[in-house]
Amino acid sequence: MSDSIKQEYADDAIVHDHGPKKTTNALRGFIDNPFVFATALFASIGGITFGYDQGVISGVQEMETFVQRFPMSSTENGFVVAILELGAWAGSWLSAYPADRFSRKYTIVIACIIFLIGSAFQGGAQNVSYLMAGRFICGMSVGSLSTVVPMYQSEIAPPEVRGSLVSLQQLAITLGILIAFWINFGCQYIDSEAQWRIPLCLQIILGILLGIGILFFPFSPRWLMSHGREEEALKVLSKLRRRPIDHPVIQEEWREIKISVEFDNELERHQYPQYQGGGVKNDVMIGLMGYRDLFRPGMFRRLAIGCVLMFFQQFCGTNSLIYYAPKIFQSLGLSGQTISLLATGVVGIINFVATWPTVMFLDVMGRKITLIVAGCFMTLCMAIIAIISALYQDNWVGNEDKGWACVAMTYVFIANFAYAWGPIGWVIPAEIFPLRARAKGMSITTSSNWMCNFIIAQITPVMLSSIGYGTYVFFACFCFLSVIFVIFFVPETKGRSLEDMDELFGGGSAKTDNEILQRIEQQYSGTYVPGIEKPGTA
Ligand code: BGC
Repeated sequence: MSDSIKQEYADDAIVHDHGPKKTTNALRGFIDNPFVFATALFASIGGITFGYDQGVISGVQEMETFVQRFPMSSTENGFVVAILELGAWAGSWLSAYPADRFSRKYTIVIACIIFLIGSAFQGGAQNVSYLMAGRFICGMSVGSLSTVVPMYQSEIAPPEVRGSLVSLQQLAITLGILIAFWINFGCQYIDSEAQWRIPLCLQIILGILLGIGILFFPFSPRWLMSHGREEEALKVLSKLRRRPIDHPVIQEEWREIKISVEFDNELERHQYPQYQGGGVKNDVMIGLMGYRDLFRPGMFRRLAIGCVLMFFQQFCGTNSLIYYAPKIFQSLGLSGQTISLLATGVVGIINFVATWPTVMFLDVMGRKITLIVAGCFMTLCMAIIAIISALYQDNWVGNEDKGWACVAMTYVFIANFAYAWGPIGWVIPAEIFPLRARAKGMSITTSSNWMCNFIIAQITPVMLSSIGYGTYVFFACFCFLSVIFVIFFVPETKGRSLEDMDELFGGGSAKTDNEILQRIEQQYSGTYVPGIEKPGTA
């Protein structure tokens, strides 16, 4: 087996676990692969839409003309925010089929068209129903982009930069939130409904940019290969890697993709001989069996860890800040819309800046220890806010310093989330599944993320208005439980190969995979690339 294939099956698309040196390699990889980098960077506009749509609502819902236009109870308010996440939950499930059938690229285009429709509904909303419909539609697009963009990025990337590219997506999310917060801050001074219509409409630019721009970027070579478009796959590889199609490196990578596609097919034949022969019924059965496999011993533990990590990523309370920061700051005694929006803008900056170390040093820091340390700080911050609020919530006037102490705690909280639970919450579920179960495993962990996100968005305003400081006690408890969970249930996955994952989680899938892989590799060792003579035979 070639080293790069070993690398692909060991670390695969998402992580790069080679210690401190690897970080340099990833940077080097970006410099060496400018076209890949530009493509992945461009595709991560999808992450910006994710963050923007999540972040924009926090300031908008506090604006005077918005409140006048949409008078709402706190439950309705929660639903207007949360319905985006419900749409995203649906979108993440629904995008797997078009991504395979019509390509990752066209699925991004479809998602952008849906995004434009949703944004127009939101920006032009005349009543709450329009607004909710718009947010649900946008949510479907955001959920779809959050599944397909990282998939596309990882499939065009050479293995050594794939991990950094996934973190790039998280960075894009935080950038989207940041932009939204500051656009809200700027627009609050407008003296008409344009105050909130502009921030809601501006996201249309992102949708148009991504939807049109992505058409100028290549198809995923892996997708092309899986559809039998082998020559095109070769041309795309040559363009991405900036080498001629007969270059040995290009031919080797083409062969590796060919082997990996054949590997998936072979595995399917091996496991489900009764569903071979094509046809809708067989295809559906094979798809369903893939989900059933996730509940087998060894695999179920991975699925559970992935879903529970996503659960804690949301239930630690970060999105209560992202969605309701101005409300929370007002509840902490900050008076005036400008001040609370300003304080919210700072949340966005801290969230963005504190994500950088992880993008740069993801593989130098251990996942487990980082989650534990950050979880402890997050528990502490929520506990301090709860105590101060309990003491002063009826008497903020004259105790502004206590209010500001709480604001400072929210900043420390968000910084700890940003370098740990934000990115690592996505990375671990992406690295624990063997390749063939990854798409389905990740679709479940991602949908778990969106469902929990939905619940938090829905319950936060209700909790703030009904139990006050109890809201922070609630989040402190989940932060604490997240630490316990990581200590006892999450193994350190940094630097582990696919075979190690089987040792860590039990089950023998990787060994079986490996045997099949080796057999296929032998079978295709002499394969020649279409349209090109085998090296040395000219
Ligand atoms: C989470 C989002 C959150 C964002 C904040 C992401 O990892 O999944 O729900 O809003 O981080 O930066």
